[in-house]
Amino acid sequence: MIKKIETPYYLIDEKKLLKNLKKIEYVKNFSGTKSVLALKCFSTWSVFDLMSKYMDGTTSSSLYEAKLGYEQFGKETHAFSVAYSPKDIKALKKISDKIIFNSVFQLKMFYKEVEHIDVGLRINPGISYSHFDLADPTRKYSRLGVISIKDIESILDKVNGVMFHYNCENDDFKTFSKMLDKIALKYGEILHKVKWVSLGGGIYFTKDGYPIDKFCEKLKSFSEKYCVQVYLEPGEAAITKSCELVTTVLDIVKNIKDIAIVDASIEAHMLDLLIYRTPAKIDLDTGKHNYIVTGRSCLAGDVFGQYQFKKKLKIGSIIRFADAAGYTMVKKNWFNGIQMPSIVVKRLNGKVEIIKQFLYDDFLSNLS
Ligand SMILES: Cc1ncc(COP(=O)(O)O)c(C=O)c1O
Repeated sequence: MIKKIETPYYLIDEKKLLKNLKKIEYVKNFSGTKSVLALKCFSTWSVFDLMSKYMDGTTSSSLYEAKLGYEQFGKETHAFSVAYSPKDIKALKKISDKIIFNSVFQLKMFYKEVEHIDVGLRINPGISYSHFDLADPTRKYSRLGVISIKDIESILDKVNGVMFHYNCENDDFKTFSKMLDKIALKYGEILHKVKWVSLGGGIYFTKDGYPIDKFCEKLKSFSEKYCVQVYLEPGEAAITKSCELVTTVLDIVKNIKDIAIVDASIEAHMLDLLIYRTPAKIDLDTGKHNYIVTGRSCLAGDVFGQYQFKKKLKIGSIIRFADAAGYTMVKKNWFNGIQMPSIVVKRLNGKVEIIKQFLYDDFLSNLS
């Protein structure tokens, strides 16, 4: 049945998604930690009915994301923005359960309008785990969060929660744990004065082999020591390995190596990988037929990666890129006017639904 769907398409498999969601539920049951989905990573709301059974709500980076979380996911709606406009605040105060400010100036400016809801402040703890400077929240001159303890203490009477986002693709429990200890040591007095603490996203606790019980113990003891409700903001950890980008080979050319060109584009459909210069993943890439697989945009570096296929590729061969849920659909774009991949969901009962197809009219209406 899936074979009949025209490529390119993103295929979200709810059974695979459920594997992550059950781990998120496990963490809640054994540590009391709530998880809110980071919509910046994944906003494909057709699977929110399933996700909202296991997660506690959403967190956002903008008014539109917050609105989407409020309307389509429900439960708790957390708002964060690097900088709010007065118009954002007017709308957000009606739909948010928690509103987290990035600076003391913004918090003071908007406090009167939002004092009836939970107000939080983002802190830059000065330590982080990231493989990429681009994504390192505490990089030199970072604008993400308040650094000065004096500044934080000056507005503590106005906030009842704090947020630290200091991990990025961190699958190493030991470094997570050590950094949390350092944060506890540095901000202990502040932590005793708030009711909730968000530890942000970027922790790969749903990965196979992650010591999830130790993770739960750590979160639980942190929460008990400071009498706080702990939140996590998983994006990638919630949806990892639940989606493929399915493409078809349109042409094979040669320039020293064999180059297969597919009917999609890394720049338009998996942009994050291009930004971070990491190849797309293909499962079962273990044969002896070597190809560079590229996109069909005019960008010279529109390259998915180099792979070893079991069978020789031919025109019409299907290539499925793995792990295609996070930071893909939210960043897809109409560069070169290339056919945008449809969004397809394989439901828990095995039924395959095409939930969104993009047509010329969508391209047309994207600009004017
Ligand atoms: C504040 C905040 N929370 C959560 C996330 C989600 O991170 P991830 O998708 O790596 O879990 C991010 C990612 O940049 C973030 O900036």
